[in-house]
Amino acid sequence: MKKKRVPSGVGPQTGKLWAGRFTERTHELVEAFTSSLAVDRRLYAHDIEGSIAHAKTLERARVLSRRETAAILRGLATVRAELDKGRFPFVPQDEDIHMAIERRLTELIGSVGGKLHTGRSRNDQVALDLRLYLRQELGRLIERATRLQQSLIGQARAHRDVAMPGYTHLQRAQPVLFAHHLLAYVEMLERDKGRLRDALTRTNVMPLGSGALAGSNYPVDRAYTAKLLGFPRVTENSLDAVSDRDCAVEALAALSLIMMHLSRLSEELVLWSSQEFRFVDLPDGFCTGSSMMPQKKNPDVPELVRGKTGRVYGHLLGLLTTLKGLPLSYNRDLQEDKEALFDALDTVSASVDVLAELLKGLMVNRKALAESVESGYLLATELADYLVTKGLPFRQAHAVTGRIVRACVEGDRDLRDLTVADLRTFSDRFQKDALAVITVDGALRRKAQVGGTAPQRVAARIREWERALR
Ligand code: ARG
Repeated sequence: MKKKRVPSGVGPQTGKLWAGRFTERTHELVEAFTSSLAVDRRLYAHDIEGSIAHAKTLERARVLSRRETAAILRGLATVRAELDKGRFPFVPQDEDIHMAIERRLTELIGSVGGKLHTGRSRNDQVALDLRLYLRQELGRLIERATRLQQSLIGQARAHRDVAMPGYTHLQRAQPVLFAHHLLAYVEMLERDKGRLRDALTRTNVMPLGSGALAGSNYPVDRAYTAKLLGFPRVTENSLDAVSDRDCAVEALAALSLIMMHLSRLSEELVLWSSQEFRFVDLPDGFCTGSSMMPQKKNPDVPELVRGKTGRVYGHLLGLLTTLKGLPLSYNRDLQEDKEALFDALDTVSASVDVLAELLKGLMVNRKALAESVESGYLLATELADYLVTKGLPFRQAHAVTGRIVRACVEGDRDLRDLTVADLRTFSDRFQKDALAVITVDGALRRKAQVGGTAPQRVAARIREWERALR
């Protein structure tokens, strides 16, 4: 067999760090097909952070000398500076960010760079990088969600006296405060943040030291690595550690729920800004026009948030499907996790940010809202509850009020048009004080239990949120 001379640690003509056992170079189609560099280069800072901790752990285990460690740390600092400045010389053989960084390190500091990967595999390395990155992004997203909550609360405070029709089945149901409606989304976002925090606790576990799948041959102090990287715990099973992507799935599930909430808010903004509702005006800077119809002002931002929701759900289902048939432990399929996770994080982050800004500039059409609560028999339930206070069982009160509404519909009248005499033709329990209950203010004020839309309640909740989110 003819032997070619190749630099130590590198295979024949391929430049691959793993090429020792190969005789042929990687097909160019395969190089392109298997490369994850375009996606995972965003992990570079975390990859280097992990490598620094790994080098220090190897030094502590006396696998690396102090000089070797120092050389590696210096080299890694140079690599990071190159990457930070966009001056890192990528080559097509760099299969992923981990290989690119190790290759460059060795170019810079010589063969001692080849000692960094002692006792480590890209399998535990990528598991670590993913957790470091996700931990950071989950934290950032929690802050972003808080800013969106603050925008909602700002509008709630500014319009805490404005009533609107509350809907069920998109039919006018009962009056509520506009602020109460906005605060509903603040509650949703708070649960979303709770789910992100919850995902964070299970993400925050340190997998390095699991090797390729079986563990490490070196006496590495994994707790020390974890401490350097700020992880409270280490993974307890090496097979699980390199094949587990639960934290990515959990994050995608939490992200899907956030998008679902943002999508519902967006749908309402689209509806409310339509000519049919006219409840709000979106700021011009957040709308677009039509290339043909000069009068148009389109709510593209909430539409796109609504539209992008499908992408995020898709990533969740995509990753679950990728994972479902995999035998333990690492399989290259797992490389598909990053595109899903990164795109979902980007999409949700951008959606949260743009809605937070849009909402700050939302103009509320007080006149249209005031008109809308005056029609649609929003106060029928109040009338039924009035009869209950006069001793009628609710079911009968409901039936009587139903007949009143039918009569109004047929006579094209509203409840407010009725006199006490009119009411008494339906039930002699109606007395002079009946008309006083058929007001929006009264209807709001009576919803005074915890969670109700009474102005006092809503004002108190606004104050609670402002204090909690400060
Ligand atoms: N780029 C790979 C990934 O993202 C890194 C791990 C590769 N490991 C391997 N044995 N091929 O999953």
